Amino acid sequence: MTDPEARSRTMCVLPWIHLCASIDGVYGRCCVDDSMYHNKLYEQEEEPEFLLNDDAVGCSPRSRYAADNPGRVMGLADAFNSPNMRRTRLAMLAGERVDACSYCYHREDHGALSYRQEINQRFRDIADPDRLAARTAPDGTVEDFPFFLDIRFGNTCNLRCVMCAYPVSSGWGAKKRPAWSSAVIDAYRDDDELWQTLRENAHLIRRLYFAGGEPFMQPGHFALLDLLVETGNAGNVDVVYNSNLTVLPESVFDRFRHFKSIGIGASCDGYGEVFERIRQGAKWETFIANVRRARSEVNLWLQVAPQRDNVWGLRDLLEFARAEGLDVDLANVVQWPAEMSVLSLPEEDKVRATGELTSLIDWCAGLGWEKPAADLRALRTFMNSADPVDLPPEIAA
Ligand SMILES: C[S@@+](CC[C@H](N)C(=O)[O-])C[C@H]1O[C@@H](n2cnc3c(N)ncnc32)[C@H](O)[C@@H]1O
Ligand code: SF4
Repeated sequence: MTDPEARSRTMCVLPWIHLCASIDGVYGRCCVDDSMYHNKLYEQEEEPEFLLNDDAVGCSPRSRYAADNPGRVMGLADAFNSPNMRRTRLAMLAGERVDACSYCYHREDHGALSYRQEINQRFRDIADPDRLAARTAPDGTVEDFPFFLDIRFGNTCNLRCVMCAYPVSSGWGAKKRPAWSSAVIDAYRDDDELWQTLRENAHLIRRLYFAGGEPFMQPGHFALLDLLVETGNAGNVDVVYNSNLTVLPESVFDRFRHFKSIGIGASCDGYGEVFERIRQGAKWETFIANVRRARSEVNLWLQVAPQRDNVWGLRDLLEFARAEGLDVDLANVVQWPAEMSVLSLPEEDKVRATGELTSLIDWCAGLGWEKPAADLRALRTFMNSADPVDLPPEIAA
């Protein structure tokens, strides 16, 4: 019998309920699964072999990894019970740490809250280790379909935000990419097996997270919403987005009305001119008009990525949000590229920024605005730490 204490330090409910499918067709345990990202390959001048990390869950049939990893090509349902997913569950149940989950364990070791802890809390009704163990076969298999999906339907994007890059954004790809690769990547568009699996299991889906690329430019994202509406299952599903909200087809609202809930984290890294400087290609007026339109129908908050170039603009942004009655999430602190991070500020600027953040924290706390106050405290600690702790992942999924 595994020590429950040890198990509570390693268990995460996600491998029992969730699958992430990345832009370039690699499956992950979640969006911060260390084994899923192979970004170094996109820095090679000559086309490299697209070999998967040993720990990666697997890859989809239409992904660029498929040819170089024939034994590890699989559909979504098989990926959920792939050898590495089964090993992950058994290790967690035995109270062992899983290498692919080091992002979360690293944060916890430094006293910070991890995505694992957040998500276990969010799904506390089902995250009980004994109940999960009872659903797990001796070889680690779980019979259910993952009810919470994060499928990145390609990298199509109209912007080139200064802290983003190829392959995440086709906008960046159009400007800067290796000659052997195309600007637009969409690993799931012609993946018939994926679409059949989604159709067969539509009644089991309960939660979707969309990012990208820009979700409101992704045909695959619209196709999945339509599939859920057509099959009569949309009413079961909570949908969460990160979107640049510079593109918002009116037709989304007809679809949204069928769903159980819609939440949009509208990415906004500054007010006015700061916004346009960071979110290259975006217009503040368009963004604000879309924010106002969308919030009249769905739950919407501003999703800020604190970084070197907006630390002085956070006050204007927070005052604007307050005046508009919008919530703000500042937890997704930029760590890479390193020169975009607040860590790259000269020492004298860090001292000044510490004063500014302290004043903002006091202002937020005085208003009882606890989430921004807590995020800003974490940012201040991160900026001044000699051994910075990774800060929370990109999503509020
Ligand atoms: C990659 S974007 C995709 C969705 C959509 N295009 C958007 O901008 O919201 C998802 C989130 O990641 C953030 N992001 C982009 N580059 C980042 C970086 N280098 N570090 C941390 N977050 C970043 C964006 O600001 C956005 O909130
Ligand atoms: S809008 Fe999103 S995906 Fe596009 S460049 Fe900006 S952060 Fe990247």
